[in-house]
Formats: sequence, C-alpha cells, structure tokens
Amino acid sequence: MTPNAHAAAASPTSTVVTGIGELTTNDPGLGILHDAAVVLEADRVAWVGESAAAPSADAAVDVGGRAVLPGWVDSHTHLVFAGDRTAEFEARMAGEPYQAGGIATTVARTRAAGDDALEANLVAHLDEAARQGTTCLETKTGYGLTIADETRSARIAARHADEVTYLGAHLVPQGADAESYVDLVCGDMLDAVAPYAGWADVFCEDGAFDETQSERIVAAAAARGLGVRVHGNQLGEGPGVQLAVRGGAASVDHCTYLTDEDVEALASSATVATLLPACDLSTRQPLAPARRLWDAGATVALASNANPGSSYTTSMAFCVATAVLQMGLSVREAVWAATAGGARALHRDTGDGAVGVVRAGARADLHVLDAPSATHLAYRPGVPLTWAVWRCGERVR
Ligand code: NIG
Repeated sequence: MTPNAHAAAASPTSTVVTGIGELTTNDPGLGILHDAAVVLEADRVAWVGESAAAPSADAAVDVGGRAVLPGWVDSHTHLVFAGDRTAEFEARMAGEPYQAGGIATTVARTRAAGDDALEANLVAHLDEAARQGTTCLETKTGYGLTIADETRSARIAARHADEVTYLGAHLVPQGADAESYVDLVCGDMLDAVAPYAGWADVFCEDGAFDETQSERIVAAAAARGLGVRVHGNQLGEGPGVQLAVRGGAASVDHCTYLTDEDVEALASSATVATLLPACDLSTRQPLAPARRLWDAGATVALASNANPGSSYTTSMAFCVATAVLQMGLSVREAVWAATAGGARALHRDTGDGAVGVVRAGARADLHVLDAPSATHLAYRPGVPLTWAVWRCGERVR
C-alpha cells in the first residue's frame, strides 16, 4: 500500500501459510475452512485447501491455529488532508451538532500544506491502516476545492491508494456562488482530476449539494467515464439514496437515515449501501440500519470513513465490532461487509486479482488474527488482534 509497508519484508516467490485454525474465504464454494492452508505466489493466491494437502512452496509460515480472513477492504476514506479538528470534536462531545461546515477548516489547512507534508500525512495513515489489516483502500479528494488543489490531492492519492475518488463536490467553497462552483466541478475541474481518479462522488445533503446539483455532477462524471458514488442520507432523510440508485452508483455511503422506500430501492439495485459506524458514533447520530438493509436484501459494506472531522479512525475492526454489538449483524455478516462488501462497492470483487476473498486467482491479501476465530473481533472489542498481514503477496506486518 505504501512504500514503507511494501518494504517491510522482501517476499519469497511463493509462501505456504499453514496451521490456519479458521479460514474465512468469502468464496461460496469454499466457505469457512478449518485446519486450512493457503499458498501465495507472487501477488496472487495460488491454492486454498486443507493443511494436510498443502503443496510445498519457497517459504512456509505456520500460524499456529489462528484465524485468517481476507484483508479489510476500506472503501470510504478521506485521507488527503492536513491539520486536526480536536477542538471541533471536543465541542461535539459537549453537545454541539456535527455540521458539514467543519470541512472548510480542513480545506484551509490542506491548501496551506506543501505537497511533501500532504503526502507524508497520507502515507502515515495508510501505514496505520495496513498495520491493522487493511489491504485495499479507497481515498478521496475533497479538501482542495480548487482545480489546482483537487488535482494535487488526486495526484498524491493515486501514488498510494488502490482507488481514488474525485470529491470536488464536497462543499461549496466559502464565498463561491453555488451554481458557478457546480459548473466548475462538472467542467474544468473534472477534466483536470479525471486522469488520476477512477471514481467521482458528491455530498448530497442539506448544507452541501442539493438534488438537482448532485444529479448534474453524477451525470457529468459518468459521461467522463468515471464510476460514481454518492454521500447520502448522513444527517437526515433526503434524496441521496434514490439519486444514487437512479444514477447507477456503485455505492451510496452513510445511509444513516433511510425511509422504507430507500431500503426497497437499495434492495432492488446493484448499488451497495456503505455504512460508516465510526462516523455515526463520532457525530452522535443514530447507527445506520444495517440489520434492516441486510434483511431486505441490500448489499451492505462497512468502511471507516477515516477523516479528521467526522470519523478519525482507520480501524475496520472497530467498525466490525460496532456492527455486531450495536447494529445487529452477525460476525460473519460484518466481516463479509468489511471485506467482500467493500470489494463490491469498489467493483473489485470478481475476476483475476479480486480482493475481499481468498480463492485461487484472488489478490494475495491475508489478515491473520491473534485469535482462534473471527468471532473474537466482537467478543474482544478494542483489543488489537492483528497478528500478520500479507498484501499483494508481501508480508507488511
Ligand atoms: O463522509 N460527509 C461528508 N464528508 C465527510 C466528512 C468530512 C469532514 O467532516 O471533514 C464524511 O463524513
């Protein structure tokens, strides 16, 4: 993921990981295996099966009965930023409501930062995520809000993150005319950022972009060949979910306040409902209705939403524990949502090099827990359980 993480150890060509007490594959054919082994060859999984039948490889690592999962797929972060919003957090914990306006504070700090500082901050957070088992990560622009600053953010992100999302439509910059800014986001800014981004996003919410503006932004990004996702229904019910589904978005993220019609729309579409429980807690909102979405048949992903304002954590394990302990998902469901669900939201869940799954041909991303089963993620909340991590076949922890 990052130069440091990549350099943590020189990998042999192939490694057999044996002694896996419980292997979560997320592969419908393989399911959950016990006493299993996995062979990693270059950056792919080459073989999955019973430990006793494992082929030999250049190197062997016995994980001593521990649980192994696919690496976390964190499909929603905002990590190209500078500065800190501790004071805003303290005010919130003292009763102030979360308001999107806090974004402007980070925009000012980000614009003032040099390229090296911005990049170093991103790399530090990516390393922090990798050490906790995140092996595939999306990050967004959105703290630049000028052509030059958004392009710079995307260029830096593209050097390190698996997926980059253009979020020029995060907030109308202070002093700008909203309609002229939307013209820019859909025009010259989009043209400048598109070479560095695979996705575009819009914050469709009161105080950010309304339905008509969001619809324009989604259409312009799609016409430019970018995949689309939407921040929707974070601070109240609103048009975000329906807009995302109508626009064929890969995901609609937050989904904290949903009507029955929203749940139904998600259940009958391919748009993933990406839930961000650390953000709901940190902004003192209710937790998103994960159980309701899952039972209705919607595809659910869990992501960290790591950013300095509404959710300053890179811990996917925290999101999983919260989803189980407070949102009604089972451990299996929550782990799926934080791995395969995120992969689906990023359109990386199928084919050669898929992530969020352990099967032959998938990307060689493994997360070993210092625990006998994935259940310990919720049974021992807050305990750092990551024991080893392979990303693209390289041991990064
Ligand atoms: O996903 N909702 C909009 N964007 C971020 C918040 C960013 C911030 O407060 O700096 C989010 O929560």
